[in-house]
Amino acid sequence: MKSFIITIDGPAASGKEKIAKFISRKYKLKHIDSGLIYRKIAFFLINKKIKTKEYYKIKKIMEIFDFKKISLRNDKRLRNEKIGKYASKIAVYSFVRKFVNFFQHKFVKNNSKSKGFVIDGRDIGSVVFRNADLKLYIEVNAKNRANRRYKQLIDMGEKSIYPKILKGIKLRDIKDKKRKNSPLIKPKGCIVINNNGSFRNTISQINEVISKKLN
Ligand code: C5P
Repeated sequence: MKSFIITIDGPAASGKEKIAKFISRKYKLKHIDSGLIYRKIAFFLINKKIKTKEYYKIKKIMEIFDFKKISLRNDKRLRNEKIGKYASKIAVYSFVRKFVNFFQHKFVKNNSKSKGFVIDGRDIGSVVFRNADLKLYIEVNAKNRANRRYKQLIDMGEKSIYPKILKGIKLRDIKDKKRKNSPLIKPKGCIVINNNGSFRNTISQINEVISKKLN
């Protein structure tokens, strides 16, 4: 039987991860956080002291990169702005995207007996899983996103300055939306979820669309 696939796309800090985790737990679907894969690659390259502009070096490394080096286990060390920024810079390279997309399809194939998957990112409904059963797009204005990210970083004990976070988010939006390869768009046929309000409000919108699909 074909697995049920839900895709979640949206800009940086729009709450995709929290929403995907909620869906994963409630509907017993496996969660793939595609941003985490970009961050893991970024972490690996930073440790090798490779700069984002070193296109050929990165290409060569990706060609022989061992898939087993990447797990979908969360790692708090990857959730900082430095890694996020580096990840968004290497995410413009088609060979990096190809690697991450291949990884996701391989994971779905290797877990074909599971009930389904919830996958979040920027291009999941538009490029990676175009035939998904349900496509969600999360919308939150930049100020709310910056505010939430700021609080998250403070809670994690990181030094953080709100205007800097807001500027970073706006820059990341431009990078994600304007890049040539797989820009962030609202995928065709997606349902837009407004995540500006409370999480309770967001999950009530989500439960409504999922229950309609499952019934
Ligand atoms: O979602 P997260 O902030 O963890 O993603 C890190 C970076 O990876 C993003 O800023 C984005 O540029 C990139 N990304 C992407 N496509 C995805 C997921 C993430 O380009 N599907």
